[in-house]
Amino acid sequence: MVRIAPSILSADFAKLGEEVRAIDDAGADWIHIDVMDGHFVPNLTIGPAVVRALRPHSAKPFDVHLMISPVDPFLEAFAEAGADLITVHPEAGPHLHRTIQRIRQLGKKAGVSLNPATPAKALDYVLEEIDLVLVMSVNPGFGGQKFISGQLRKIEAIAKRVAKEGLAVEIEVDGGVDMTTARQCVDAGATVLVAGTAAFRGGPDHYGANIAGLRGTE
Ligand code: DX5
Ligand code: ZN
Repeated sequence: MVRIAPSILSADFAKLGEEVRAIDDAGADWIHIDVMDGHFVPNLTIGPAVVRALRPHSAKPFDVHLMISPVDPFLEAFAEAGADLITVHPEAGPHLHRTIQRIRQLGKKAGVSLNPATPAKALDYVLEEIDLVLVMSVNPGFGGQKFISGQLRKIEAIAKRVAKEGLAVEIEVDGGVDMTTARQCVDAGATVLVAGTAAFRGGPDHYGANIAGLRGTE
């Protein structure tokens, strides 16, 4: 069954700890944390101190999506703060392979995220070194954007390649995932869905139904 990783970017930032508990109780599989630096993407969000503060509020894997450049100087801080999975963009540093090695040395799972215009080819020579591919189905920077359906072809191509090569790589999709696009992503081969707006819509009383809807088990 597909896993759901709610993005806390759409949570109430004035009570993040409670929000993480509520979304965890509602059935979230992973907690997706969007880190933005105002340079790699045009927005600012969360740093390692917030990740550390949230860590006691959930035992679920912290799926930390780093949209920062340069990324290398911050890997250790996020690892120490409690990230389980650290995902980077190929454009965020000069040596993607070295960045992946470093994440692994820190004892964390490594992911690579592809922007909408970044081809799947960017995974050549690193796919066998990573645990996850994060396909961006919006341009990173903000929640609440429209799903770019052309990315479904990229998900399909990566899923085929992962199957053909017999790799244990998760395929996660991020941006504009709602009840409709969730289905399309799963059909294309996604194994993990990130959802901000669709997961947190309506407040805590709705989180359970939102997650079940995204999973297709409502
Ligand atoms: C975008 C972030 C996403 C975003 C998803 O840069 O990486 O995780 O929060 O939000 P929705 O689901 O609202 O598109
Ligand atoms: Zn994200």
